[in-house]
Amino acid sequence: MTANQIARKSVQSLRTLMTGAQDQSSIRLNANEAPDSHRSPDDSLGLNRYPEIRPSGLRAKLAELYDVSSDNLLVTRGSSEGIDILIRAFCRPGQDSLITLPPTFELYGYFGQIQDAETISVPLSPAADFALNANAVLDACTDETKLIFICSPNNPTGNIATYRDIANIATAREGQSIVVVDEAYIEFSQQNSLAANIDAHENLVVLRTLSKAYALAGARCGAVIADETVIDILAKVLPPFSFSTPAVTYVLQALGEVGLAAAEAGIARIVAERERLLHALDNIRCVERIWPSHGNFILFQLADQPAVLAHLKSRGILVLGYGDQPGLKNCARITIGSPSENDAFLATLKDFETSVMKKPSG
Ligand SMILES: Cc1ncc(COP(=O)(O)O)c(C=O)c1O
Repeated sequence: MTANQIARKSVQSLRTLMTGAQDQSSIRLNANEAPDSHRSPDDSLGLNRYPEIRPSGLRAKLAELYDVSSDNLLVTRGSSEGIDILIRAFCRPGQDSLITLPPTFELYGYFGQIQDAETISVPLSPAADFALNANAVLDACTDETKLIFICSPNNPTGNIATYRDIANIATAREGQSIVVVDEAYIEFSQQNSLAANIDAHENLVVLRTLSKAYALAGARCGAVIADETVIDILAKVLPPFSFSTPAVTYVLQALGEVGLAAAEAGIARIVAERERLLHALDNIRCVERIWPSHGNFILFQLADQPAVLAHLKSRGILVLGYGDQPGLKNCARITIGSPSENDAFLATLKDFETSVMKKPSG
């Protein structure tokens, strides 16, 4: 069975959406658009016209950025949309399941629930530094498991899954499940993207995003990278014209030479700040445990998590706290901010120690 056949039958049989001719020089009376812009006679973006059904220029630019062929890439509104369309394309409501490895990004299970696809959890253990256990993943698969989500670097634990483990899972599940590697944070790590390995596994999907390392969360731009058969299936599910003309124009501009150099410098700054924070947190008494991170965030465990988070909040500093979520008891995740924001965070933790934490008696 090919990756195409793993998809829902109703999706397989959809025709691929096409538009009529959209060239600028023709008299365009074929798309029920307004003939001109009402805003100003020189509306240079031409917003009265539909954008391309799929943004071909942006697709080519992202393919170049991620070093893959355009045929292997679908542009999505953030990688969130990639997760959504994967689940809608491959999981039959009420019948199929997906696997997630908690603690991890919650949208996999969230979109799964919308689709009425069961989420099977294969927990990562804090005792094993949240390492992926490929055998446990394979043991949890059933005949109805269509998607396996692996986040690497993992949000919020910050660790990386090895290509060997992912390749073992993809090989063992060939023809049965799609293995999705979410690389939202890969630019902050030293790890190579698995986008380079899609030729070796028809059922391997890689998700990328411009929201993190490229500092473009507001533009909503991501990419699904996979074998052409998978891309063609997903293209049937993605709504037409989903990328607005201003978004395409803006992102293309942001990915020019200047923008890319700025992104590279930004990544280096975040990584340097991450290492500084890791070191500084080591010397703060209310922090009980810190996990190394390959992302733009750090997971740490606190002696009195609610009190520390309340203290930070009272000083206008927000970090993400976890309740009793398995594996994350008393944990919090800080996103690496600017040097001054990080300094404010550290100073507030120190202040908590001196002003709120009880001094050891004796
Ligand atoms: C692991 C992971 N994947 C995907 C996303 C979604 O990002 P976006 O939709 O902005 O690309 C996030 C956002 O926090 C994330 O942490």
